[in-house]
Amino acid sequence: MKGAVHRGLKGRIGAELRLRQHNIDNRRGIVDADAQRHFVIDDVLPADVFDRLVERVAGETSWVRSSTTWRSGEAIGGHELEARMAEELAYLDGDDFIAKLRAVTGFDDLEFVPAVDTNRLSMLRYRNEGDRIDWHVDGSIYLGARWAGILTLVEKTFDEQAKLELMPHGELVNLPAASAPNSLVLFQGDHVRHRARPLVHGEERIVLSLLLSTWPVRTLNPFLRRYQSRVNLTFYGNPDP
Ligand SMILES: [Fe+2]
Repeated sequence: MKGAVHRGLKGRIGAELRLRQHNIDNRRGIVDADAQRHFVIDDVLPADVFDRLVERVAGETSWVRSSTTWRSGEAIGGHELEARMAEELAYLDGDDFIAKLRAVTGFDDLEFVPAVDTNRLSMLRYRNEGDRIDWHVDGSIYLGARWAGILTLVEKTFDEQAKLELMPHGELVNLPAASAPNSLVLFQGDHVRHRARPLVHGEERIVLSLLLSTWPVRTLNPFLRRYQSRVNLTFYGNPDP
């Protein structure tokens, strides 16, 4: 979808149709071979910003826990995060941060999705035995190319490898646990299968989940919007965007 013509009714209708087909293909396991790359940016936040954020998160109590057949863990949605730790997260809205993401992906029109979407910047915590998210590709409700970012704050594990795993082109990619904290993994989560392995007792994982798009306009398709509401209800206990 890179380079899509963003303007005009014709462009919009074309993008809606492509997005609809993409989500149908997605459910059938058909993904774009050109969208299988991932990028890792180590030390993505300045050290003082990272330390302050980790310290702030350690005292946080407003996690929403939920368990389904495919995912068990805790989350704080974007609206709650904004209300609770806007100051600690302000760096992510700055020019330096988005410039890094554009440079590394080569998508110079990459932007955060609008703040009305609770997935724009949310926080996930896994810390009970069995907490995990199974292999999946994400759905997409934005008209442009969708990029997910996982910024690790805490990766306390007995394993050599971080819990996040990707499967671009059907091949398993592990990332080292030791360098996970303050690293950002960027990938097109609606094309690259991914999961977080189950935790065992004594482990903990806390990440920021970022959602960006090259055309951050939400689809008008009610079926896709409803799908996203169900996901939001599972993660944040709230179906709203
Ligand atoms: Fe995902």
